[in-house]
Amino acid sequence: MAGNIKVKVCKGSADVAVQAAKIFARLIKSKPDAVIGLATGSTPEATYGELARMHKKEGLSFAKVTSFNLDEYWGLDGDHDQSYRYFMNTQLFKKVDIRPWNTYVLNGKAVNPALECEAYETKIVSMGGIDLWLLGIGGNGHIAFNEPGSPVDSRTRLVSLTQSTIEANSDGRFFKDAAEVPRCALSAGIGTIREARKIVLLATGSNKADPIAAAVNGPFSPDCPSSLLQDHPDCTFIVDKEAAAGLKKSR
Ligand code: PGA
Repeated sequence: MAGNIKVKVCKGSADVAVQAAKIFARLIKSKPDAVIGLATGSTPEATYGELARMHKKEGLSFAKVTSFNLDEYWGLDGDHDQSYRYFMNTQLFKKVDIRPWNTYVLNGKAVNPALECEAYETKIVSMGGIDLWLLGIGGNGHIAFNEPGSPVDSRTRLVSLTQSTIEANSDGRFFKDAAEVPRCALSAGIGTIREARKIVLLATGSNKADPIAAAVNGPFSPDCPSSLLQDHPDCTFIVDKEAAAGLKKSR
């Protein structure tokens, strides 16, 4: 697979956030009713901070924007302070003028998870698809909660988390104890994500150097789910120097 992934290496994590926010701002200014895909985790927090600043200081308006989030913990409702709905409300939605009814986050308490996932896919299609999807990357190369082994054509579904993901999310940043982390989640599939017209993946810090190298320079393989972005026509990784450390120099 000839990798199409473009890599932008920034001096530090603050610059990663500024660059990512600029891409969103450019889209939203040119298409005020853009449909955007969003991610949770530590990495995008600074980008959301920058978007909130742009809203407050520069008038960037999300009034007509629709958003879809990648995933949600199975079993948590949106009021739980570790749910991704709660994360998005506090990190971004309450700080900008996006209409709450235009923000779609999978319901971790849905009575029927299969129906919830199907309705989510249908909603994305009815909105015309995702213009730009922001992603993070797991230490094991996952995107959303598509853990290693996830098929390239996977759709939104109920998935199990790997032990490494459970541990990464209970290192004190989010859950305090691995026992508190839900074992399952609803997650957009790799096929769902690949249909976005543009993808921007962010990574900062040395613990992301191995998965970034595997995604960009490694084989196109479900063993590293993010490598399944290699044939996407418009995919950019924005990384800091530490996360870029394992990339082949010839790039
Ligand atoms: P992180 O998570 O930003 O908290 O490192 C990324 C991910 O698991 O996708």
